[in-house]
Amino acid sequence: MKTFLVTGGAGFIGSNFIHYMFGKYGEDIRIINVDKLTYAGNLENLKDVEELPNYTFVKADICDKEAIRKIFAENDIDRVIHFAAESHVDRSIVEPELFVKTNVLGTANMINCAKEAWENPDGTFKEGKRFLHVSTDEVYGSLPEDGGYFYETTPYAPHSPYSASKASSDMLVKAYMDTYHFPANITNCSNNYGPYQFPEKLIPLMINNALAGKKLPVYGDGKNVRDWLYVEDHCKAIDMVQEKGKLFETYNVGGHNEKQNIEIVRTIIDVLREELSDDDPRKEHVTYDLITYVEDRKGHDRRYAIAPDKIRADLGWEPDTMFREGIRKTIDWYFRHMDWMEHITSGSYEKYYEDMYSAKLS
Ligand code: NAD
Ligand code: DAU
Repeated sequence: MKTFLVTGGAGFIGSNFIHYMFGKYGEDIRIINVDKLTYAGNLENLKDVEELPNYTFVKADICDKEAIRKIFAENDIDRVIHFAAESHVDRSIVEPELFVKTNVLGTANMINCAKEAWENPDGTFKEGKRFLHVSTDEVYGSLPEDGGYFYETTPYAPHSPYSASKASSDMLVKAYMDTYHFPANITNCSNNYGPYQFPEKLIPLMINNALAGKKLPVYGDGKNVRDWLYVEDHCKAIDMVQEKGKLFETYNVGGHNEKQNIEIVRTIIDVLREELSDDDPRKEHVTYDLITYVEDRKGHDRRYAIAPDKIRADLGWEPDTMFREGIRKTIDWYFRHMDWMEHITSGSYEKYYEDMYSAKLS
C-alpha cells in the first residue's frame, strides 16, 4: 500500500485529486493531506472522505520545517504530490512577497524534507520514492494571438509575481534533480475548471455574480485566451505521471481547448439561462447586460496554449471530458451547490471582493 503526502489538498485541484485517487484506488492507498487552510483551503471539499481510515488531515504550513519533517519521520511516504501554493494572479500583484514565501520557500522546504527522508547514506535514494511538483503553463509567459504552443522545451518567461514564483519553484526542483538525482517530476498544466474552485477565479466568479445579479467584470477587451482543462483530466494526468512517468521529466498537460474570456462568460450566461426555470426570478437578470468591461489586469498575458504531445505519446494520457460537456457539468455543479458557494462568500472573501473590484466596477 502506497502512502501519498498531498500538499494543498483542501484547495481546488488538491481536493479533486484526493477524490479521484480514492475513487480509483479505494483502500489500496493511504493519503495524508497537509494544508495550512489559508482562505483557499476548505475542508468542506473533503467532507465525504474525512472519515475514511486511510485518510489523514494535518493542518500545517509547508514552510514549517519541523512540522513537515515530523510527517516524514512518522510515516513512510512513497509519493509527494505538491499542490500547495498561493495560486491567484490578481492577489500576487497586490501581495507578491507572500507568493515568494509560500511558493518558493515552501517548495524548497518540501523538497529538502523529502530529500532528507529518502536519501541513503551513499547519496542514492530509496527505491520507488517520487516527488511530483504541480506547476503551471504560466511559467512559459505569453503567446502571440496568431499561433504557437508551449512545449516542455519552451524557455521560461514568467510575467506575474505568481508565475515568477512558480517558475522559481520549478527551477529549484530541477536543480535538485540535476544536483542530487532527487527523484522528481514536474507537470505544467493549463487553466483548470470544475467543482470546488474558489470563486475568485474566472468561471466560479462569473457564475456566482450572474446568479446574484452582479456585474460580470471582464478584464481589458475580453479577448485574452486561456486553454481550459476539466480538473479531473488534470488529476488523471498527475496520477499517470506519479505512476509511470519517466523520472526527472517534465510533462505539459492541456487539452487543446483555447477560448477567449468573453466566450467563456457568454457560455456561462447561456447555460445558466437554460438551467433556470421560467418562473425563477433570477432568469430576468441573468443576461449579457451584466457583462462589464473593466480595467485590464496589470501585465495580463495574452494567450496560453499547451502542446500535450509528450504526455500523450509517452504515457497515453488523453482528456476524457471535452469542453462542451465539462463546462455544462461545472455550471450545473455550482448551480446545485449554492450552499457551498454561500459558505465561502459569506466569509472574508466578501471583503476581498469589495477591495479588489469596488473601484473597477464603480
Ligand atoms: P488553490 O488556491 O485552490 O489551493 C491551494 C491550497 O494550498 C489551499 O488549500 C491552501 O490552503 C493551501 N496552501 C496555501 N499556502 C499553504 C501553505 N503555506 N502551507 C500549506 N498549504 C497551503 O489552488 P489550485 O488552483 O488548487 O492550485 C493547486 C496547484 O496547482 C498550485 O500549485 C497551482 O500553481 C497549480 N496549478 C493550478 C492551475 C489552475 O488552473 N487552478 C493550473 C495549473 C497549475
Ligand atoms: O494557466 C494556469 C493558471 O490558471 C494557474 O496557474 C493559476 O493558478 C490559475 O489561477 C489560472 O490563472 P489565470 O490568471 O489564467 O486564471 P483566472 O481565473 O484568474 O483568470 C482567467 C482569465 O480571465 C484571465 O485572462 C483573466 C480573466 N479575468 C479573471 C477574473 C478573475 C477576468 O476577465 N475577470 C475576472 O474577474
